[in-house]
Amino acid sequence: MPRTLFVTSALPYANGPLHIGHIMEYIQVDTWVRFQRLRGNAVHFMGADDAHGAPIMLKAEAEGITPEQLVARVAADRPKYLQGFHISFDHWHSTHSPENTALSQDVYRRLKAAGLICVKPVEQFYDPVKKMFLADRYIKGECPNCHSKDQYGDACEVCSTVYSPTDLINPYSTLSGAKPELRTSDHFFFRLSDPRCVAFLKEWLETPGRLQPQVVNKAKEWLSGTGDKALGDWDVSRDAPYFGIEIPDAPGKYLYVWLDAPIGYLAALKSYFEAGKARANGEPRTFEQFLADPKVEQIHFIGKDIIYFHTLFWPAMLKFAGAPYKVPDHVYVHGHLTLSGDKMSKSRGTGLSPLRYLEVGMNPEWLRYYIVAKLNANVEDIDFNPEDFIARINSDLIGKYVNIASRTAGFVNRHFGGRLPAGPLESPLLKDLQAAAPRIAEFYEQREFGRAIREIMGAADVANAYIAQHAPWDLAKDRANDAQLETVCAVSLNVFRLLTLYLKPVMPELARAVEAFLNIPPLKWDDANHLLLDHKINPYKHLMTRVEAKQMDALFGSLNGNGATAAPGAPAAPAAAPAPAAALADAGTISIDDFRKVDLRVARIVEAEHVEGADKLLKLTLDLGTETRTVFSGIKSAYDPATLKGRLTVMVANLTPRKMKFGVSQGMVLAASGEDGPGVYLLEPDSGAAPGMRVT
Ligand code: MSP
Ligand code: ZN
Repeated sequence: MPRTLFVTSALPYANGPLHIGHIMEYIQVDTWVRFQRLRGNAVHFMGADDAHGAPIMLKAEAEGITPEQLVARVAADRPKYLQGFHISFDHWHSTHSPENTALSQDVYRRLKAAGLICVKPVEQFYDPVKKMFLADRYIKGECPNCHSKDQYGDACEVCSTVYSPTDLINPYSTLSGAKPELRTSDHFFFRLSDPRCVAFLKEWLETPGRLQPQVVNKAKEWLSGTGDKALGDWDVSRDAPYFGIEIPDAPGKYLYVWLDAPIGYLAALKSYFEAGKARANGEPRTFEQFLADPKVEQIHFIGKDIIYFHTLFWPAMLKFAGAPYKVPDHVYVHGHLTLSGDKMSKSRGTGLSPLRYLEVGMNPEWLRYYIVAKLNANVEDIDFNPEDFIARINSDLIGKYVNIASRTAGFVNRHFGGRLPAGPLESPLLKDLQAAAPRIAEFYEQREFGRAIREIMGAADVANAYIAQHAPWDLAKDRANDAQLETVCAVSLNVFRLLTLYLKPVMPELARAVEAFLNIPPLKWDDANHLLLDHKINPYKHLMTRVEAKQMDALFGSLNGNGATAAPGAPAAPAAAPAPAAALADAGTISIDDFRKVDLRVARIVEAEHVEGADKLLKLTLDLGTETRTVFSGIKSAYDPATLKGRLTVMVANLTPRKMKFGVSQGMVLAASGEDGPGVYLLEPDSGAAPGMRVT
């Protein structure tokens, strides 16, 4: 029975562009969602901008535009991020919308009718110039303890004393500089401390399997706090001027942004239904019918900083609003992304601009893979480290996964007219990999993504060892081996097809390219149950390039603080800094005849080994079609020999042999490297080139 899933990720504040932390969250949710779709489950994946609140109002004012204009501008900016990283929301909406107004007011009325809203007077600082009440973050003054100036209203950054804004000496409004006045105003409170709420939350939190254990513990700490830490009622109103939703029958009072923000999940869903998109996605019911159905799983993915709102207020609001509202089935919490160990600012997200990442020509699926490989189901931070990123992508995706196809596909096309044999294929390798499907599925389901990836890459290692052992490039030299060659290639490409399926939630575009190459319809999870036999494939085209260190330099090169990059309309940054012109000119010129003296040949690496006692060299055995050469090459720092076997490269074939400590080197392979930057990059001809071909 397929499941029906209503999935959300947290709604980003509409006061600025998305930063890499947002993208990290979307990659996690999107991978999970895509996995569910591959399984045949019905998924409705909603996102929206969180548009309300004082900061957005004040930012718009500072820019001389209306909050609506600010919110619209920010919304227009979202698609390039979402499309750029292949985030497959089924709908994107806004909390500043008629749907959200109607739903939020409805929820509020129902909570009031349930006796869970009360009114209490609140004494608060008021800015007489701006004519508005001031949240603590807009008040500064002198610390009552150490007398440091310009301290915020909640705590002193110098002596760490915690106090309330009314304790500040000579307080002033950071908005106008005016001296704030204490004023009293009636506020509306959601009575979270009501015994009904407490009893319900206890049960909701403790339902087995609903939340991660760390999250349950955290929420129960808040729920069972006493004294100072006792769970208080929640102030859900703000006085005008405020950018938000009006409270029914209370002129000048607005709902606090954190009340209407999660209702934005439902508003997005409603707008999705009303736009006919739910129907187009196979859901025939109305919004209310869908929402009320206990079999529809309502799942929220969020970051660790907003657990409080999502595990206390939100379920209680839904519970006591009553049908068709229904409590969330799961709230899945992730840790934060750090950059080389540094916490990034939540609001500014400096350091790694997602747009710049795309502009310098980096593949979005590299980032998806990198993040997914590091994620697990716990609330743990994960770190983006540039060197680690390069190593991971190049060794896993290029060296292990893509290598399987690039080392075998050419033979199928050249020797067997592009046809895979009818089989059957008796291969323990394939049997094991097919049997791994339920295990990998369970890892995805549980959000143990790192374990799924380890399982997949472990299988890729086994496959590469299989290919190295059967050396299709040797078999291909004699037509008498055709039957064996055909089997080796068919096994390898079937492994490749299964690995592609297992990686498809992470790398949808790469999977699409592989489906085109294999000439098959879009892979579904059930396709793990059969193999691809008696089937014509298309010529192999290169599937993915390596990450280059210079791309990292370009990525981190010239950031500006707000996460934006080039001005609109400015040309995209070049993918790599051009080499200094002087260095090129210094090399002088040579005639074409000089160049022709160098006999460059395509060579296949048939063997690659470590050399006892040499810390920079690998010993390569190169097949030149008509002869075999041994070459010692200084590429050890960059390559694992196991991943080199079977690859094509380019060598200088007419160098005078050179006697070295470890043996005679009969030539040289070509590799690129920077002046002082890290990395050595072996040259590789495009697919179709064969050993012995001249490079001219
Ligand atoms: N607007 C609220 C959420 C309302 S949901 C009804 C909000 N917005 S936010 O823009 O600050 O954050 C949006 C999401 O991004 C949150 O889940 C937050 O945890 C996540 N992240 C913010 N910084 C992050 C990282 N550095 N790493 C990973 N996720 C991060 O909170
Ligand atoms: Zn102080």
